[in-house]
Amino acid sequence: MSEHHDGFSTRAVHSGSRPGRAQGATTTPIYASAGFAYDTAAELEDVFAGHKPGHIYSRISNPTVAAYEERLAAIERGRGAIATGSGMAALATIIMTLTRAGDRIVSNASLFGGTRRLFTALMSRYEVEVVYIDLDEPGALQDALTDRTRFVYLETIGNPKLDVPDITATARAAHEVGAPLVVDSTLTTPFLLDAHALEADLVVHSTTKFISGHGNSIGGALVDLGRFDWNTLTDPDMRNAVSTVGRELAFLYLARQLVVQSLGNLASPFEAYLQSQGIETLALRMERHCSNALALARALEAHPAVEMVNYPGLPSSPWHQIASRQFSGGYSALFTLRLGSRERAFAFINALRIPKQLANLGDCKTLVIHPESTIYHDHPDEVRAAAGVHPDMVRVSTGIETEDDLLEDCTQALSSVDSR
Ligand SMILES: Cc1ncc(COP(=O)(O)O)c(C=O)c1O
Repeated sequence: MSEHHDGFSTRAVHSGSRPGRAQGATTTPIYASAGFAYDTAAELEDVFAGHKPGHIYSRISNPTVAAYEERLAAIERGRGAIATGSGMAALATIIMTLTRAGDRIVSNASLFGGTRRLFTALMSRYEVEVVYIDLDEPGALQDALTDRTRFVYLETIGNPKLDVPDITATARAAHEVGAPLVVDSTLTTPFLLDAHALEADLVVHSTTKFISGHGNSIGGALVDLGRFDWNTLTDPDMRNAVSTVGRELAFLYLARQLVVQSLGNLASPFEAYLQSQGIETLALRMERHCSNALALARALEAHPAVEMVNYPGLPSSPWHQIASRQFSGGYSALFTLRLGSRERAFAFINALRIPKQLANLGDCKTLVIHPESTIYHDHPDEVRAAAGVHPDMVRVSTGIETEDDLLEDCTQALSSVDSR
């Protein structure tokens, strides 16, 4: 008999250890405890030395957070995960684990504005160089890679350009210079994109978005997919980590013991509880996000008041083919539309009845934003251009409301733009 592997939704609902099981709890209790007590001095000594499993202090690990991390690793088919207080904190943890002054990160230029700020404004203070390239440009990646490259970075769907880089080709080029590929899969989630199968090494999520799903908490995660051989790195801290815990767990060990323990950016038990619950319904929500987004994108593309709709699910997107190859189950919730002028974009947003206007995405509720005047308001023109931001562009994060209501609302908002 061939071995059976549980599917995504089964893993999403049942994975993760079950603290509280002895009491019959069906959700992981929130362990709101700063430290964890042991009966004898020898026991605590053993836990500190790593000879006995156990939690010490919730800045480093916590039973609720650990159960959530196991669930994150299970849905990504990864070796392990670390849940952080935000998506930015997860990325900062990876940077601080893998780089030192003088090192290089090579990144696709189409990025969320906050990631760009972290890479450029903050990392330059620590002399870590970030080189931006357009992964769609042949040869650009190979030209940027050097033996100082510590990782290559991309968003599985660039936010808000909505480009879709070729993950496997990028991973293979990065591996040629001994560097791992880190992918931000916030927009795709493991439901749409199997980063492990596409040969990525580390995954970052802003769990604030689809994983949490209800816009009720900020969080992030990093997942080691277990593909990269950390024993090939020469960094002395990584060498020590390999000799302490072995090549498989070296990255996760170093990230937690060196960075998370020092920065204190672990997720709180309450956030871990909320987001772990979110994972249970992720598949159902993603299906509805994707079908609603496709319906809206198609309708708006055909509307005479709209100049252009950009959505990887539309055949008109330059990234439709690669998205169809890399994703399964849909093209996520985000699309952008251009309305000809900034004034018309503002008028459209103001006329909408259902969507909330705010700086987030991946909520059950439909959200809209004018990226140029908000997320990108303090970025120079060349950064806006690389991120695909235009003055007349509106970004929509499609929610899970009734499709017809969203269609009707967008149509009435467009009529009011035209009648001005
Ligand atoms: C693609 C992407 N990555 C990372 C982040 C940062 O995540 P967080 O806001 O949870 O720190 C965001 C936030 O919008 C994002 O859209």
